[in-house]
Amino acid sequence: MNVQVAPDLSTSVSNLAQDLLDARQRELEVLSGLTDEQMYGSKMRIIEPPIWEMGHVGWFQERWILRNLYGEAPLWSNADTLYDSFNIPNAERWDLAFPSYQETLDYITAILQRCLKRITEQELTDEAAYFYRIVTNHEDMHGETMVHIRQTLGYPAPPIANTRLMPPPIDYDFEPHDVAIPGGTFMLGATQDMPFVLDNEKWAHPVELAPFHISAMPVTIAQYQAFVEAGGYQAREYWSAEGWEWRRKAGAEQPMYWHREVDGSWQRRVFDQYCPLDPFLPMMNVNFYEANAYCAWAGRRLPTEAEWEAAAAAEPGSNGRSFTQVKRLYPWGNESPSPERANLDSAALGLVDVRALPKGDSAFGCRQMLGNVWEWTADTFDAYPGFEIDPYETYSAPSFGQQKVLRGGCWVTRSRVIRNTWRNFYTPDRNNIFAGFRTCAT
Ligand code: AVJ
Ligand code: FE
Repeated sequence: MNVQVAPDLSTSVSNLAQDLLDARQRELEVLSGLTDEQMYGSKMRIIEPPIWEMGHVGWFQERWILRNLYGEAPLWSNADTLYDSFNIPNAERWDLAFPSYQETLDYITAILQRCLKRITEQELTDEAAYFYRIVTNHEDMHGETMVHIRQTLGYPAPPIANTRLMPPPIDYDFEPHDVAIPGGTFMLGATQDMPFVLDNEKWAHPVELAPFHISAMPVTIAQYQAFVEAGGYQAREYWSAEGWEWRRKAGAEQPMYWHREVDGSWQRRVFDQYCPLDPFLPMMNVNFYEANAYCAWAGRRLPTEAEWEAAAAAEPGSNGRSFTQVKRLYPWGNESPSPERANLDSAALGLVDVRALPKGDSAFGCRQMLGNVWEWTADTFDAYPGFEIDPYETYSAPSFGQQKVLRGGCWVTRSRVIRNTWRNFYTPDRNNIFAGFRTCAT
């Protein structure tokens, strides 16, 4: 395997410290502009109150850096009873007695300052670098959670600075089509030379793939609208038993954020605004059951994780047979993500056209495999062969066998987190995350 380390993941004190600060700046941006009342949210099973999100990222930083690496005592003796996500069920997170916004801000700021002092004053060991990285990564993931909370509760879009003013140019010749991927042995998972890897990605192992055809772009709003208008939500035959049960209980007659005007036209809610459907945006905010129902209607199927990763990371072997030994860190190669290649980092403050960003194509011509929308895969999240649990034991293992794998990141995901081998996971009913899907021919 030949993977080059992307330059912005180098492990130096200044880089790690800068990332801690940058993750915090984004976290505060996505929390800003909300009223006190909005900070406490309105109770829902699938999200946490914003005030919890805010304290939790600081608590996690203290837990893994100050307490774990340096043996410090917690700043607040009751912090574990407030912010330990693993030991406090979601349903209870709403009813805790939270400190005020200002107190929470002071708490997480004090912890960050102590971490920054440690990182500059203490020798930077590999072990320490690993925990600084995991903490940045965790705050980045919660920054995304906070954005989907804002969408779920109909709050205003996050006021994020440094976003691009113009949407990227559209490549009008790029029509929906399939690309052919050869079969062969594919090495699924992270390779040893990658700089920071969570336990669930370890390690690359051979998987046999039959040749398959996968769409060069994710399913668009126009394509999904055709399914909705064909009565897809009302037709039992397109849904799995579990999916139909979800649909019935949720009362879902159409995608969650869609709403039909009296004249029959559709509107889609984006944060606190309604806007017309843009046919060439990727379909977003659909769950695993909805993705599969669309597939059944369209005569398609979801890719497996291995198929998805091969389409993103592999290169065709000679004569188009099988794969070379090269595995790309990103679809386009090993250079760091940029706005011309992937819609990440909230740079566009929303979705971009599925035909844009040709520079981000994979070796097989799949577009936007990173960024824009997360993509549901057919697979249940499970351990790779030889799995060994990492110190942050409750990150992956408790979800094995319980959740579905998503790949590729979305428009909010930070570029320092995402890569071809990154595995995200949610339960199949979740449609408030920024997820869509790409399909394969059956
Ligand atoms: C992997 C994104 C599903 O947000 O629940 C954050 C990440 N784990 N804190 C989540 C996570 C613990 C996790 N996801
Ligand atoms: Fe967390």
